[in-house]
Amino acid sequence: MNKHIFVATDGSDTAMRAVDLAAEIAAAFDVPLTIGHVLQHGKPVDELSRMAEVEHLVEHVHKKSDIQWDNIPGGMGDLFVGHRPSQDVVRIVTMIGDEIVSRASDRAKELGVKTVDTTTGDGDYADEILDMAERAGADMIVLGNRGLGRLRRALLGSVSQKVNQNAECTVVTVR
Ligand SMILES: Nc1ncnc2c1ncn2[C@@H]1O[C@H](COP(=O)(O)OP(=O)(O)O)[C@@H](O)[C@H]1O
Ligand SMILES: [Mg+2]
Repeated sequence: MNKHIFVATDGSDTAMRAVDLAAEIAAAFDVPLTIGHVLQHGKPVDELSRMAEVEHLVEHVHKKSDIQWDNIPGGMGDLFVGHRPSQDVVRIVTMIGDEIVSRASDRAKELGVKTVDTTTGDGDYADEILDMAERAGADMIVLGNRGLGRLRRALLGSVSQKVNQNAECTVVTVR
């Protein structure tokens, strides 16, 4: 029996399915769920722009923040090009990360999970996922086989591979 489930999301569709599965298991066995996201500061723009609902996230973050934007950017691409000060970019990535976990948390509660916790980290994606899961006391990690990357030839993305290889607990990989 699992005592605590940890799910990792990068905001991709596959990761959202991982959130759904993790939430269904947590609800069925009545165990707590922690949702973790590693801030994607180092991501290429085209990868970030594949994030599910990214335009909505950008608009939402724009409304919530006091960052001075002349216009709401047309998309994630516009957000990171041009002469925007890098401090703003850091804040935007952070706010988008907060929004990703907060939406995943709402979804998990909708699916009947009673205890949902969220956390964000910074650094190497896989290392952080493993650390966050350990800190949460998770004995199962759920994640997607693919994320925002585009190397379609690979069956597993690099984050997925590294977590599967290095985790000490059970890893469930959603396809
Ligand atoms: N920055 C991140 N924060 C949290 N989870 C992540 C992050 N990046 C990837 N993941 C998890 O790992 C899964 C696989 O992603 P990844 O290995 O990066 O594949 P890809 O190469 O297709 O992007 C995702 O579905 C998600 O569950
Ligand atoms: Mg990826």
